[in-house]
Amino acid sequence: MADPNFRKQLHLMADRMADYLENVEQHPVQPSVEPGEIKNQLPERPPAKPEPLEQIMEDFDRFILPGITHWQHPRFFGYFPANVSEPSVLAEMLTSAIGAQCMSWLTSPAAAELEERMMEWLISLLNLPQNWQGSIQSTASEATLVSLLTAREAACDWRINTEGFQGDEQFVVYASEHVHSSIDKAVRIAGFGDRNLRRIPVDEQFAMIPEELEKAVDQDLRQGRRPLAVVSVLGTTATTAIDPIPEISRIAKSHNLWHHVDAAYAGTALILPEYQKWCEGLDEVDSFVFNPHKWMGVQFDCSAYYVRDADALKRTFSINPAYLQTRADEQVNNYRDWGIPLGRRFRALKLWFVLRMYGADQIRRRIRRHIDIGQKLAGWIEADDRFELMAPVPLNLVCFRYHPPEIDDKVRLNELNQTLMQRLNDSGKMFLTHAELNGQFVIRWVTGQTHVTKQDVAESWEVVLSQLRQL
Ligand SMILES: Cc1ncc(COP(=O)(O)O)c(C=O)c1O
Repeated sequence: MADPNFRKQLHLMADRMADYLENVEQHPVQPSVEPGEIKNQLPERPPAKPEPLEQIMEDFDRFILPGITHWQHPRFFGYFPANVSEPSVLAEMLTSAIGAQCMSWLTSPAAAELEERMMEWLISLLNLPQNWQGSIQSTASEATLVSLLTAREAACDWRINTEGFQGDEQFVVYASEHVHSSIDKAVRIAGFGDRNLRRIPVDEQFAMIPEELEKAVDQDLRQGRRPLAVVSVLGTTATTAIDPIPEISRIAKSHNLWHHVDAAYAGTALILPEYQKWCEGLDEVDSFVFNPHKWMGVQFDCSAYYVRDADALKRTFSINPAYLQTRADEQVNNYRDWGIPLGRRFRALKLWFVLRMYGADQIRRRIRRHIDIGQKLAGWIEADDRFELMAPVPLNLVCFRYHPPEIDDKVRLNELNQTLMQRLNDSGKMFLTHAELNGQFVIRWVTGQTHVTKQDVAESWEVVLSQLRQL
């Protein structure tokens, strides 16, 4: 029997949540706390007796909220966003109450079938290849690991799964210099070793050079190694560069390489007809991941992972002890067989809510607005001769640095920009992160938070300009 106070508490919490999201702009985007400061205010031992919710919420306001980085603040411009939206929050409330563990169809048939349908909806929204099948993974990192493990097993006819490495395989994975660190991690976990990840040089747009890929593959073949897979990026982390998928697909095909596409952030842009050009060549790839939990307003965690050959995926991950077998197994998707964990959250519900409560048109309008704001910001930066754009801006990530004409020393410029960014972040008025491009410290500014407006960005740009006077 539920706690009789629960309904009242739930209403209180609903108000707290709405208040938080309505007033998020009143918080400094990033807290100013020292390491250890929050932990040291918390008791060393858990309570032996029950404590009232009111007391816990008081402590939440005192100790926790002041230590939160507000990712939903419209002036959060760092990393890539991890966007919440109202429909997604509502769905997550329901999900948490239902508390279903969705490892198998039987453990919640609606969850499995909604997931299957939502993966189809996303295919149709982004105009992805119709023969793909997808599942929700927790993160793009996990999806990429799943992809490389499937590649490994498919390449050795599932021998390593049964016999382990025999010491003779030297599988090599190829990716651009700008690939995300999750690929490095996947290469390690899959047992290939750091030294078998080839970082292929990029062109002036920071996109992989296909001829360099071909050269690297040839060299590995000559030296007796086994080229296994190539990871292309559709929207790199540093600059949202787009690797040339059709050319990479061609090379992958001619060398029998598995081809995985990491579109973690930029994949959402495929919902716009004007970005459909980036779908070219996707029908040749083996797997693809994008994160509705970054830019689509479907909050963390929700990574959409697609494969061309679902049987290869399931053959790699399916372990089917008697206690998990059900009568329906031949007719349904048991998503525990589509990835690493057995236990799975019910994540399709928030996709369903977001896609229905907004509809495709409103999502498109929002993504276009974010891109438009980013392009405006890039224009302001370009027009100011104290600044320079450091990379093309295909979407809404602007890479720039402060570069007054009288300073040309590389080290000094790096220091100046580091100081500028630190001071902006310390001000609590905005939050930015950085990247390194050709040894240069570059400030990254993403205009992708759900409710960001042109005014947020214009006022923040004024904050940047006013900081210059104190540099
Ligand atoms: C291109 C790219 N791939 C992968 C990731 C990792 O995403 P996740 O946190 O879902 O693992 C990121 C994160 O920003 C990214 O930018």
